[in-house]
Amino acid sequence: ISAVPSQVGFPYSALPQVICPTLGYRQGPPPRRKTLLFSLAAYRTDEGQPWVLPVVKKVEQKIANDASLNHEYLPILGLPEFRANASRIVLGEDSRAIKENRVGGVQCLGGTGGLRIGAEFLRRWYNGTNNTATPVYISSPSWENHNSVFVNAGFKDIRAYRYWDAAKRGLDLEGLLEDMESAPEFSIFVLHACAHNPTGTDPTLEQWKQIAAVMKRRFLFPFFDSAYQGFASGCLDRDAWAVRYFVSEGFELFCAQSFSKNFGLYNERVGNLSVVGKDADNVQRVLSQMEKIVRTIWSNPPSQGARIVATTLTCPQLFAEWKDNVKTMADRVLLMRSELRARLQALGTPGTWNHITEQIGMFSFTGLNPKQVEYMIKEKHIYLMASGRINMCGLTTKNLDYVASSIHEAVTKFQ
Ligand SMILES: Cc1ncc(COP(=O)(O)O)c(C=O)c1O
Repeated sequence: ISAVPSQVGFPYSALPQVICPTLGYRQGPPPRRKTLLFSLAAYRTDEGQPWVLPVVKKVEQKIANDASLNHEYLPILGLPEFRANASRIVLGEDSRAIKENRVGGVQCLGGTGGLRIGAEFLRRWYNGTNNTATPVYISSPSWENHNSVFVNAGFKDIRAYRYWDAAKRGLDLEGLLEDMESAPEFSIFVLHACAHNPTGTDPTLEQWKQIAAVMKRRFLFPFFDSAYQGFASGCLDRDAWAVRYFVSEGFELFCAQSFSKNFGLYNERVGNLSVVGKDADNVQRVLSQMEKIVRTIWSNPPSQGARIVATTLTCPQLFAEWKDNVKTMADRVLLMRSELRARLQALGTPGTWNHITEQIGMFSFTGLNPKQVEYMIKEKHIYLMASGRINMCGLTTKNLDYVASSIHEAVTKFQ
């Protein structure tokens, strides 16, 4: 009688069980022992707590009291005032591309959504149709999800471009430019707009100009990932300089923007994919295809995060408050950097530590080797990434001494 088969035709027992490292404690509650978590990719206050930005609290109240709002579906491409203002934030008030009507936005599920939708579009329509063979270049190292996002979109040829020079603890500009020179024309390059994750090392303005010149000559496609606008320098405009420069140089490009960090809206999943095209007609055609892609992936986006961002960006007073909140976060990171460096230098920790203050944004590539990282985790219960990356927001005035002396011990014991 029962039509239910005893075997579902799928060998679940053969499925490998995986753990996503950055999502934290999947298998249960956090360990009871007192630990210091430096592997998270989120802001923390000096009390080690998540921070709801005061401007966000205010706007949430405003939204809650607005009787005209409801929970109807948003348009497939998202809230129009969010999309337009998100693009304006990254491209700038005076963007010629915006004035020329050749910018479009797609509201996405965080920065990841922007990358995924952009990658899907490129695989379908860039450099031929269904062009899975176009090489996609990702910096070495990079945010670990970049690779998988492009693989999941169907790209088969994911390559690394040189970025980090471990010996000098800085940018390997020569290697990067060589890799661009030798990349096949029309290759896609994923570029971190600012506050490179995980190295905290960005090209200087002069270096960005060199990068743009090679990319232009070699017909390479810039796909910017802007996950930390405002976090790097505390200034939104400065952190968007590279994207704006590329646009001013006439590039057609994508820029995936995340508002997870700079609005502290991690779980609202709010991001935007800015599309800069040659002309208005091109952009409209691209957006029509984006609509088709979004329809089958998340159908239409959630509203709360987009409302918060749009309300903030469209009101001069709230906008000013937000900029101030962003600066508060950036300044705390800067302070922790200088305090950590000062302590390491005062302890006489072997090696040079100027990179701690030269790097920017949430992350620092400490330069700790795998043995030193293991010591930090096992003996000191300071959890950092295997690469030696730490989230500077894990540092507080209360744990600075402990962290500095632990690094000192680790470096002294395992040189
Ligand atoms: C470089 C980079 N890109 C994108 C993202 C994704 O951001 P979101 O949480 O908005 O998807 C992150 C988050 O850590 C990131 O570091």
